[in-house]
Amino acid sequence: MSGDLERYLVVGPRVGLRPFTSGDAGEFTARAEESVALHRPWLFPPRTAEAYAAYAGALIEDPARAGFLVCEREEGGRIAGFLTINNIVHGAFRSGALGYGAFAHAAGRGLMGEALGLLLGYAFGPMGLHRLEANIQPGNAPSRALVRRAGFRLEGFSPAMLFIDGAWRDHERWAITDPCG
Ligand SMILES: CC(C)(COP(=O)(O)OP(=O)(O)OC[C@H]1O[C@@H](n2cnc3c(N)ncnc32)[C@H](O)[C@@H]1OP(=O)(O)O)[C@@H](O)C(=O)NCCC(=O)NCCS
Repeated sequence: MSGDLERYLVVGPRVGLRPFTSGDAGEFTARAEESVALHRPWLFPPRTAEAYAAYAGALIEDPARAGFLVCEREEGGRIAGFLTINNIVHGAFRSGALGYGAFAHAAGRGLMGEALGLLLGYAFGPMGLHRLEANIQPGNAPSRALVRRAGFRLEGFSPAMLFIDGAWRDHERWAITDPCG
């Protein structure tokens, strides 16, 4: 499997992370369509080519954002999920806000946990960040479990923090700082 290394920014035993591209629209939107039951009511990733173009375009072009496709190495790079970092601020903050979703076929297999571990190394290494936060609705148990396993700590509670699915939703603020400095 070492032949796939050049495709990825960073690799683990089972997954590799690579940037979003415009060419991923078809696979991404098909997987998102299959994953509506998994994602609702927490997440609304693009399910049309137009919506993907706007979403991926911002991740690719906006220096305050970064997006990573989680690809299954043994499955020819099939997209298992995605991770995003928004609100990237440099200077004294060096921080960003994390988002993520698994796709239905890949959920519950430990692939997102592996991917998040890889992303932390990449964010605190080559990207030069110091802190990542994940804002999670209190009822989203799988998401809370994912970040807790990755070493995030619960920092606080933010009432009516984000407008999601037609209403302002309370969020828990989970965060991790670079353990190496
Ligand atoms: C949150 C989300 C990304 C988690 O993804 P996931 O695929 O369930 O994550 P993982 O597979 O890494 O971990 C889930 C389980 O698989 C287990 N697992 C299975 N096989 C494993 C393996 N080989 N290695 C490690 N863990 C494994 C993990 O231990 C974990 O079990 P637990 O929850 O009972 O402790 C997913 O539920 C999702 O997409 N939710 C909807 C979108 C969403 O809420 N996004 C975040 C908004 S804040």
